[in-house]
Amino acid sequence: MDRIRIRGGAQLKGSIRVSGSKNASLPLMVASLLTDQPLTLKNVPRLADIDTMIKLLEQHGTEVSCAPGENGHSRSTTLKLTTRDIASTTAPYDIVRKMRASVLVLGPLVARCGEARVSLPGGCAIGTRPVDLHIAGLQAMGATIELDGGYIVARAPNGLRGAKYVFPKVSVGATENLLMAACLAKGVTTLDNAAREPEITDLAECLAAMGANITGIGTETLRIEGVDRLRPAEHSVIPDRIETGTYAMAVAVTAGDVELINGRIDLLDSAVAKLREAGIEFTQTASGFRVARCNGALHGVDVMTEPYPGFPTDLQAQFMALMTRGEGASMITETIFENRFMHVPELTRMGANINIHGASAMVRGVSKLRGAEVMATDLRASVSLAIAALSATGDTVLHRVYHLDRGYERLEEKLAACGADIERVK
Ligand code: EPZ
Repeated sequence: MDRIRIRGGAQLKGSIRVSGSKNASLPLMVASLLTDQPLTLKNVPRLADIDTMIKLLEQHGTEVSCAPGENGHSRSTTLKLTTRDIASTTAPYDIVRKMRASVLVLGPLVARCGEARVSLPGGCAIGTRPVDLHIAGLQAMGATIELDGGYIVARAPNGLRGAKYVFPKVSVGATENLLMAACLAKGVTTLDNAAREPEITDLAECLAAMGANITGIGTETLRIEGVDRLRPAEHSVIPDRIETGTYAMAVAVTAGDVELINGRIDLLDSAVAKLREAGIEFTQTASGFRVARCNGALHGVDVMTEPYPGFPTDLQAQFMALMTRGEGASMITETIFENRFMHVPELTRMGANINIHGASAMVRGVSKLRGAEVMATDLRASVSLAIAALSATGDTVLHRVYHLDRGYERLEEKLAACGADIERVK
């Protein structure tokens, strides 16, 4: 199994090209199940999760062709997805257990075929992550749902009908699932207290290009008037705001100065505000923005994760890694997932001073971290260890690199190009 070795100490300098968003690409790919017409997606990153989604869609009957991207030297892909006929309405356990986003096929399949059988994803490293809201929303739209042998079996033989559904809790995935299903439902669906993440806006804009009738895009109330069929469309995936924020923190921890090409500050307002408070400078450029920590100081800053536009849970671990080297203390509170501090014991092994109190972690900055052999159980926790390693003395060896490969395109190449001493060890 691959490992990544990092020797800390180098200041990152130069430029990094931000890839297309993983969490936008996955639902966008699923949207191809809603139509027999082709959907062309540009700027899709090359990641293990994208390959898993291709595998899932192919077994549902989607023809997928990949062409090299047109995005400068980035290795992004253009995907053409065509689902002339649905070959199977079952999403099997073997694929769903590997990637929870597989559950997004539930709404589109039942909307198009009147039935779907999707494995329940089960628990995961960062929390229990139930799918009750996906189910309740489809029930409100007239689907009957049974649980059978670990599978969600949804049926709507006469099609889904428009409904008003108020999410009792903000959920990115449930909003995406119901938004897609509503595009083919009869009548008007109103989704209230919907998630407003930029990935949802990207999905809604692509669905609109496919002929869906959606208003309220980017707000917490989405109104969708169902149509009989959707048309071919071409869409370019937004840049990955979590990858962008991750590299911004990597630059900050090394007191570096890097241009994040294609990075969009407007998708990261809350994180950028916190990083500015910590002493990091951001400057807009013609092709993205520049992030730098030139004046030395890195201040401890408190953060609480919240649904968008709040501070993203997907940047919490990386921010904590940065704060281990801050001056003073930083209180980091996780409100989205109940078990998203698995990076803490590993950061502690590198010399960080962190105490967990319930949903909060108190980080007291230390003057030095030391390299160690570390591993993590999820994507963002893994990358937080890479950030800590960049500022540690000596070598860090990161195990279980497959977590990183699920969500970061060529991490070691991008960091090495900016001067990091980093290599993948086969
Ligand atoms: C998406 O997961 C992202 N994944 C996650 O990114 C991200 O952390 C999360 O949104 C929050 O921003 C993708 O986009 C593929 P949720 P999702 O439904 O949709 C609870 C990464 O590292 N909930 O918004 O699964 C749930 O348990 C990943 O790239 C219910 O209770 O997240 C959680 O506490 C990790 N019932 C909260 O809501 C439900 O039916 C938010 O989850 C659904 C969710």
